[in-house]
Amino acid sequence: MRQRDELVTLVALEGVAKSVLLPDDSRLEILRSVDLEVGAGDHVSIVGRSGSGKSTLLNILGMLDAPTSGTVSFEGREVRRMRSGRLDRLRGENVGFVFQQFNLLPGRTALDNVMMPLGHARGRLFWDRRRIAADMLERVGLGHRVDQVADRLSGGEQQRVAIARALVRRPVLILADEPTGALDIDTGATVMALLDEVATETDAALVTITHDLHVAARARRHYRLDAGRLEPADLTKAFEASTLAASVPGAAEVAS
Ligand SMILES: Nc1ncnc2c1ncn2[C@@H]1O[C@H](COP(=O)(O)OP(=O)(O)OP(=O)(O)O)[C@@H](O)[C@H]1O
Ligand SMILES: [Mg+2]
Repeated sequence: MRQRDELVTLVALEGVAKSVLLPDDSRLEILRSVDLEVGAGDHVSIVGRSGSGKSTLLNILGMLDAPTSGTVSFEGREVRRMRSGRLDRLRGENVGFVFQQFNLLPGRTALDNVMMPLGHARGRLFWDRRRIAADMLERVGLGHRVDQVADRLSGGEQQRVAIARALVRRPVLILADEPTGALDIDTGATVMALLDEVATETDAALVTITHDLHVAARARRHYRLDAGRLEPADLTKAFEASTLAASVPGAAEVAS
């Protein structure tokens, strides 16, 4: 296996900060000077309390949102300098998002949703999009639900459709925001194994945000966001704290 320092940098954040102006004119600092490099084939997990800025960070990594200050580079090119059409294309071709709220088109079938990212693809990916999307739905265990309308699927099924949609174009950067949040333990393990498997097949980078330490432990590098600051995480300590939390009522905060 290749070593970390041999990885080609795919996306790099340097001194990234994000703040928003609140209605009372005060500023909310969501991210503070975040540095992060994600290489091809890298597998990174990010844990952190609710509201610590995890989804905000993922949206910036995926070039859906711009930082207030600092730089984001994709394959060595600064994202800020790109025209919006080029940026949209770059994102569409290279980034697969599993959104925390799934963001499926409600009136459309599972198959339509998964085919969506291939609608702008070229060549075989475009012409074979129906079969490619159906195959991906099969891989997430939804081969029997392809024609079901998204809003009639269960939460866990919607999550798997969202995962199939994120993977269908074989992106080099897979960003998953709580990808097992709506799944039972067994389905969650299957889905994480699939994310790992597809990422490995295509040498894609996988960044996973999770509250589940077992999911986090699947990654090669672990981070924790705390009040907008990103730090390397010690998962062994976090596991010990969560075991403690399970046996001592009221200690749960330590683990999150
Ligand atoms: N556009 C915005 N305007 C105002 N506040 C925002 C905006 N975007 C994010 N926030 C706030 O920033 C903080 C971080 O949000 P974010 O969604 O990144 O948290 P998170 O770590 O993903 O939380 P969770 O684990 O609950 O999903 C929250 O307090 C949120 O309310
Ligand atoms: Mg979030």
